[in-house]
Amino acid sequence: MSSLSLRASKRFKATPPTFTPWVCHACRQRRTFAFTTPFNQQQPPPPQQQQQDDNPTHFGFETISSSLKASRVGAVFSSVASNYDTMNDLMSLGIHRLWKDHFVRSLNPGIRPTSGKEQEGQRILDIAGGTGDIAQRLLDHATTINGDTKTHVTISDINPAMLSEGRKRFAASPYTTADRVDFLEANAETLPTIESNSIDLYTVAFGIRNFTHKDVALREAFRVLKPGGVFACLEFTPHLNNSLLDAVYKRWSFGAIPLIGQVVAGDRESYQYLVESIERFPRQEEFRDMIKEAGFMVPGGGEGEGWEDLSAGIAAVHKGVKPV
Ligand SMILES: C[S@@+](CC[C@H](N)C(=O)[O-])C[C@H]1O[C@@H](n2cnc3c(N)ncnc32)[C@H](O)[C@@H]1O
Repeated sequence: MSSLSLRASKRFKATPPTFTPWVCHACRQRRTFAFTTPFNQQQPPPPQQQQQDDNPTHFGFETISSSLKASRVGAVFSSVASNYDTMNDLMSLGIHRLWKDHFVRSLNPGIRPTSGKEQEGQRILDIAGGTGDIAQRLLDHATTINGDTKTHVTISDINPAMLSEGRKRFAASPYTTADRVDFLEANAETLPTIESNSIDLYTVAFGIRNFTHKDVALREAFRVLKPGGVFACLEFTPHLNNSLLDAVYKRWSFGAIPLIGQVVAGDRESYQYLVESIERFPRQEEFRDMIKEAGFMVPGGGEGEGWEDLSAGIAAVHKGVKPV
């Protein structure tokens, strides 16, 4: 059985939900999913609107013109690409691995073969996939947990240097030989080579806070997903749940992370940006509402609901389903 399971966190359970049937297009089974907004009241997403590129936007704590943001972010990731995986371990004390494992497990990618039936596998799009850390886990889970040898992941990223690290990771992998992974250099805000209604699962981990127009990227996610397809995002949050912990964590992140960047990678500025960009990302409620505005059904979705906090709210998982 495949389940892009939308596991209810404590927050999701806070108000009595309505149970709405939907059809998983990967396994063609009917499922139910709890919502506080009835699914027949969901509005279709508004037509795509390209924002004025000279609008001001954030680049960390700086305010810059939107048209400059992608290239500034590009320079950061070109600079960090070769040290990216090592630096992630150092900066998070390895905890990013636990979050990513949890994120992927909660999505349960892949389709369990049913006896005597040829299964197609899922089509997964890992946006801002960088060095392929999430894609590797998605494929490992589909294969080892669900016995699925067909599910395919496209690792998409705007940055060729990050993709090149991903290519190295998969160069000698059986997933490459079996044609279960490919790479796409693209801006998440416009994915013209991906057909509408073609993707079962869209993942984005620690990427969306770097996008210039997050709302545009969310609408593009909505477009490419099949009805019943799942949008899943793992991202840092600007504030922890506890103000004391928040103060300690901010001291660590603003003090240690740029310093580690300087000592290990010889690049303080890029790591300063990475820390500042977390502060500029919307709070969980606001981001949950942006996902809903793009047209997705969000579990729970009432006050203080609709996402799952990780490690006291250092990071959060957001999910949405494209209505059938
Ligand atoms: C912090 S890394 C995350 C990589 C990977 N998902 C992980 O969790 O290890 C952020 C990635 O977002 C990519 N990115 C930034 N802006 C993007 C955009 N507009 N479209 C696609 N990818 C983007 C960067 O190039 C970078 O590879």
